[in-house]
Amino acid sequence: MEEDLDWIEEIEEKVEEEYPATKVMMDEHRVIERALSVLKKAIEKKIEDEELYLSLAEFFSKYTGEIHHGKEEEIVFKVLREKAPKHIIDMVEALENDHRVGAELVEKIKENASNFEKLKDFALAYHSMLRDHIVKEDQGLFPAMHPYLSVEEEKKLLKDFERIDKEKEKYERLVAELEEKV
Ligand SMILES: [Fe+2]
Ligand SMILES: [Fe+2]
Repeated sequence: MEEDLDWIEEIEEKVEEEYPATKVMMDEHRVIERALSVLKKAIEKKIEDEELYLSLAEFFSKYTGEIHHGKEEEIVFKVLREKAPKHIIDMVEALENDHRVGAELVEKIKENASNFEKLKDFALAYHSMLRDHIVKEDQGLFPAMHPYLSVEEEKKLLKDFERIDKEKEKYERLVAELEEKV
């Protein structure tokens, strides 16, 4: 077990130094996990608050969907399709499918924001699906793709991220506000 943790720590250190674009995606995963915790906590406490769930749905649709999955699909996955071998492309396709399932669940959360009984099932499904998805990227795709991306290419990805990042800080502030509420 300890050996496993050393291995993960090593990846994290390497990412920090050599893979600045991956570092941004992993940092965004940490923000998304905070929003997922707010969602789960609200369900566990049986909080009935339409506005809270609509705000969470907005975060998951804009920050997770457009800003974060946007970077992955329109920038990172595109480069991998040109440079990486088939087993990596297969991983990318499975991850893109998770993005689609996630977007559908976020729509359901939005539609049922005022109906707790229905909402809770969609919210818990989304929570566990997206947590698993993040692990698949942090510990699966990202380390696997690095041999096919040079440090220079990672820097270029980072530059390309800027065009999708316009409202990033607004949504990171929203998570902090929602954490205060729940
Ligand atoms: Fe993803
Ligand atoms: Fe991701």
